[in-house]
Amino acid sequence: MKINYFYHGDCINILSNEIDERSVNLIFADPPYNLSGNGLKWEGNKTGGDWYMVNEAWDKMSEGEYISFTDSWISACHRVLTDNGSIYISCTYHNIAEIMMALKKNGLRINNVITWQKSNAMPNMTKRVFTHSSEFVIWAVKGKKWIFNYDKLKEINPDRQKDGSEKQMRDVWSLPLVQGKERIRGEDGRALHPTQKPEEMLKRIIIASSMEGDLILDPFMGSGTTAAMSEILNRKWIGIEKEQRYIDMAVSRLEKIKRGGDMGKNQHVVKTDTGWGVRGEGNSRLTSEHRTKNAAENVARKIAKHQQSELVIHGRDGKIQDKDSFGKDPCPPRDRKH
Ligand SMILES: C[S@@+](CC[C@H](N)C(=O)[O-])C[C@H]1O[C@@H](n2cnc3c(N)ncnc32)[C@H](O)[C@@H]1O
Repeated sequence: MKINYFYHGDCINILSNEIDERSVNLIFADPPYNLSGNGLKWEGNKTGGDWYMVNEAWDKMSEGEYISFTDSWISACHRVLTDNGSIYISCTYHNIAEIMMALKKNGLRINNVITWQKSNAMPNMTKRVFTHSSEFVIWAVKGKKWIFNYDKLKEINPDRQKDGSEKQMRDVWSLPLVQGKERIRGEDGRALHPTQKPEEMLKRIIIASSMEGDLILDPFMGSGTTAAMSEILNRKWIGIEKEQRYIDMAVSRLEKIKRGGDMGKNQHVVKTDTGWGVRGEGNSRLTSEHRTKNAAENVARKIAKHQQSELVIHGRDGKIQDKDSFGKDPCPPRDRKH
């Protein structure tokens, strides 16, 4: 079996024939929702730009085919999970029933159903139902000794107590649909993958249910979000995807991350003519400019933390004043909770 590798082909076939039994610590699966077919679109939308409903060949099955497909891939995932492994599956109200049934049938225990509240959901076009603004992520486990990095999740939880102290991570996550720089687009400006998932979602899942060095698998890899976040968080990964165009996209996304992303690895705070700037190591151009050193430091710290790289602060004379490293294990052994 190959590690840090994109397998091209059908996930049921590859999971059953290429991936070792009980070898994968965590699976994130974003399967076809079986929603394609009506070709709905909204061009010229003034608030969020043009919108096109997912309409892909891989997302069209009869109900019977979909039930048996769901059961087959979940059963194939069960075989490769370690005995304390976790599986997270994203879905909507359209397919949650089929997935829940298949999980139970395959002996997987459901721990949580996380609600992804889309903070920038599309308005409803039909005006006949409440505006859909949520998806779900089901978390299920194979055995009783699952990993849950409770303390680490509190640390990364943006929600705080009134006094600013850490708060338990709840099962409702308010995150925007992928947009801006994170959205991978073609030259025509259209998204290259119709259902790219937010990096923040994968970050929380990976930190919650895996340790550094663990193996994470995504059977429906798409644009490579799971591999990208596994790489950033120092986990090993395997992606499976049946469309070559999406493998190409994921490969270049990973190459960019290995080069340190657009921003360059290690962030430097430097004096400019008008204030202070953030510059990736080796980059001649600034990533951003700020009036105060504090503001530049805040931005550089966030990027370095995300990249798990170094923050380097220079004084007015250009000499290095301070260095901070974010390369530490984000889930040290004391955080292991079974
Ligand atoms: C919902 S998308 C996943 C998007 C991904 N989470 C991301 O962030 O980009 C599902 C992906 O699964 C792929 N796919 C569909 N059926 C498949 C199968 N049987 N085996 C492998 N890949 C499949 C599709 O080509 C599509 O890219």
